[in-house]
Amino acid sequence: MTASTPLQARISAIGTYVPSHILSNADLQDMVDTNDEWIVQRTGIRERRLAAADEFTSHLCIAAVQDMLGRYPASLDEVELIIVATHTPDLPSTPVACQIQAHFGLPATGAYDLNATCAGFAYALHTASALVAAGVHRKVLVVGADSLSKITDYTDRSTCILFGDGAGAVVVEREEQHPAFIAHHMGSDGSGGKHVYRTGLSTMWQDIPLTGDGKLVQNGREVYKFAVTTVPQGIEKLLAKSGLTQTAIDWFIPHSANLRIIESICEKSGIPVDKALYSLEYMGNTSAASIPLALDLGIKEGKVKDGDTLLMYGFGGGLTHAGLIVRWG
Ligand code: UT7
Repeated sequence: MTASTPLQARISAIGTYVPSHILSNADLQDMVDTNDEWIVQRTGIRERRLAAADEFTSHLCIAAVQDMLGRYPASLDEVELIIVATHTPDLPSTPVACQIQAHFGLPATGAYDLNATCAGFAYALHTASALVAAGVHRKVLVVGADSLSKITDYTDRSTCILFGDGAGAVVVEREEQHPAFIAHHMGSDGSGGKHVYRTGLSTMWQDIPLTGDGKLVQNGREVYKFAVTTVPQGIEKLLAKSGLTQTAIDWFIPHSANLRIIESICEKSGIPVDKALYSLEYMGNTSAASIPLALDLGIKEGKVKDGDTLLMYGFGGGLTHAGLIVRWG
């Protein structure tokens, strides 16, 4: 396969936010029939951050953008489009992206939300990098954010031990000298939609119940199987498209769903597990936020350096998946 041409775009800034309230494994032990040992052994998660009762996805996004503006010489002046990847918007019909546009008073900025669940950030990066490289927009603000605590059933021990809240924002802008978006791959399998969904909508699709309380329902085993088969295949495609081998990947940043899933993907893909960056240990599964949160942890810990080659891969409800190879800095 001939290597694809890198897209003339790069990620120029990043900012993140997680709420201050910590829900530990010990706390969960008091809520459902579980224990720290089971959770750590099966998922690698020790703590998650939960939004306050009056804190919603738009607040997490705004805090992440503010963090970015405080750390980088980034300005939102030339941002022409805001894409928020989320499946937990504050309101069903006002896009969170519009709430961000209003908060920062950005003029003439397009704004929309994209729902590809836990693969949302990777889907949004696909869209943003293509629009920037095509010359349609100079700068795109991409935010991956979810408030999963709002839709988690805290009586269901198989899901409530997983999820947390958070947001990560990046700016994607034009870069002609050193195009940084090296390879893209995305896919979906709607026939597996029944394995992780939110109740309460009027549908009989795939026998999903007509009624419900709007909480998340998951067949963890099926989603697990989907992840550990689909993601290694996607990584193979990305490497073939980029003309790179595993050794050229400095950091692998998968969706932080479960450490056992990450270890299995690494083993199948020939990527050393110590090359994986994840945010799940102290933040849980934060859905669309998990990849930027892990990237930012890697930057803050001094692991990710300018020029490093990153392989990001998101997967989740839908079922959806998407990956990119991107040069950082
Ligand atoms: O981000 C969106 C995509 N979602 C995911 O990627 C989730 C993917 N799946 C997973 O991460 C894992 O499947 C889980 C962590 C959800 C579950 O782990 P598992 O190793 O697949 O466990 P299991 O569902 O097969 O359950 C094994 C046993 C069961 O008991 P029995 O039937 O063997 O007696 C469960 O009832 O573990 C029991 N169990 C628990 N025990 C203690 C389930 N949840 C818990 C719990 N504490 N929290």
